[in-house]
Amino acid sequence: MDNRPIGVFDSGLGGLTAVRELRRILPGEDIIYFGDTGRVPYGTRSKETICQYTRQDIAFLLSKKVKFLMAACGTVSSTFPSAEACRLPVPFAGVVGAAARAAADATHTGRIGVIGTPATVRSGSYAGVLEELVPGVEITAQACPLFVPLVENGYVEPDNEVTTLVAHQYLDRVKAAHVDTLIMGCTHYPLLAPIIAKVMGPGVTLIDPGKETALAVQDALEALELTSSRTEGGKAEFYVSDTAESFQAAAQLFLGQYAGGPVEQVPIEKY
Ligand code: DGL
Repeated sequence: MDNRPIGVFDSGLGGLTAVRELRRILPGEDIIYFGDTGRVPYGTRSKETICQYTRQDIAFLLSKKVKFLMAACGTVSSTFPSAEACRLPVPFAGVVGAAARAAADATHTGRIGVIGTPATVRSGSYAGVLEELVPGVEITAQACPLFVPLVENGYVEPDNEVTTLVAHQYLDRVKAAHVDTLIMGCTHYPLLAPIIAKVMGPGVTLIDPGKETALAVQDALEALELTSSRTEGGKAEFYVSDTAESFQAAAQLFLGQYAGGPVEQVPIEKY
């Protein structure tokens, strides 16, 4: 048993889709969330910059004495070297492995679509895992750089015309490849799931990386005997690198029913 908090981070708001799921399945766990809202997006930046930001995000969460680190960000999970993650003082989980395993379980045809930020698609991270899990897998990958700003600006209603138009631009060629499973390889994208589902049409299973990784974190905590002794009443604290007010307004969209907790701004460059 270990009652220290779980540390979760993302470039901005997207990782809150994972927090929502963690709250649902592990209601006794305390969570410390860091969203790098002052430097979002990560997905259009270089590998070096993404790694430097990631090290600062991790250093901040470690200063909060977390027992486990969850990179609730497809871009970080695809870019941060696993050798470096293994050397951290607490266990680290990204979203790629859990999402790829869920897609491997879901596909019947072996045709899988992967959408993500430019950095995620460029890294080939999902393909690397899927090729191990699904013999003969056919992957259609597509970077969707406009999805993150659309989500961060609240363009998420299922009938939003701008987002639907953009979704067609990105997804029509993925649909034409007759995939039966689509990994929404960025934690922001599940907020667009109704639009993505409509564009892809029926019969395509959408994989939510934050949700799948929350389940994997639950398994890992149990295996490592790191679960909290409480079964309910866990608290969440939120930290951001831009103003707390702008985060609060948008966070509700991602957190669903959970009302959230206190939000504080931190000078992340100092970590
Ligand atoms: N939520 C992040 C991800 O999963 C991406 C957003 C960004 O580009 O910063 O990739």
